[in-house]
Amino acid sequence: MRKNFGAKPWTYPQPVFIVATYNEDGTPDAMNAAWGGICDDTRITMCLSAGHKTVKNLLARGAFTVSMAEANQVVPCDYVGIVSGNKEADKVAKAGFHTTKSSFVDAPLIDELAMALECTVVSYDAESGCLIGEIVNVCADERVLDGEGSIDPDKLQPIVFDPVKAAYRVLGEKVGNAFSDGKQLR
Ligand SMILES: Cc1cc2nc3c(=O)[nH]c(=O)nc-3n(C[C@H](O)[C@H](O)[C@H](O)COP(=O)(O)O)c2cc1C
Repeated sequence: MRKNFGAKPWTYPQPVFIVATYNEDGTPDAMNAAWGGICDDTRITMCLSAGHKTVKNLLARGAFTVSMAEANQVVPCDYVGIVSGNKEADKVAKAGFHTTKSSFVDAPLIDELAMALECTVVSYDAESGCLIGEIVNVCADERVLDGEGSIDPDKLQPIVFDPVKAAYRVLGEKVGNAFSDGKQLR
């Protein structure tokens, strides 16, 4: 027997993206976004409410960064998801985050979060909240790289959002090889 829950925005896993932008005065803003994913080889999509300071900022500057939230940064990552830059101008500093300007786009990188996508704005629809961004670059701090220079998720410790329990969980262990394990059933 299956239990029906009705229409809910539930999938597993949902990302914990930290979207960072510059305010008009050049100070950084950041927000937490779970409704998003890749929508083409070099494109990312997110559903962002039009009232967010982030949306005003990314439309004004045509750019934003998307950092992966990490297990050891849960508190500031949640904080930027519950306080708006519309009301708290010093939000990023209060979170304890420090930023460095991206070399690729007009948006800040959060120093405490090791992996980020640097993006320009392709389109935004205020009615649906659908944002599409062009991924200009992906960067990662050396501290999360493995011996081959690749991003190591065991070092990065990205967290995912559980929308059913409103919880953050750390990404689990490897259980298979993509585009490969299914071949045994061919
Ligand atoms: C776990 C979590 C996930 C969230 N996901 C989204 C999302 O996908 N889209 C959205 O518009 N807001 C989302 N929010 C809410 C924004 O992060 C929040 O309203 C934030 O304060 C907006 O900041 P800003 O006004 O400074 O841009 C999420 C918040 C949390 C805590």
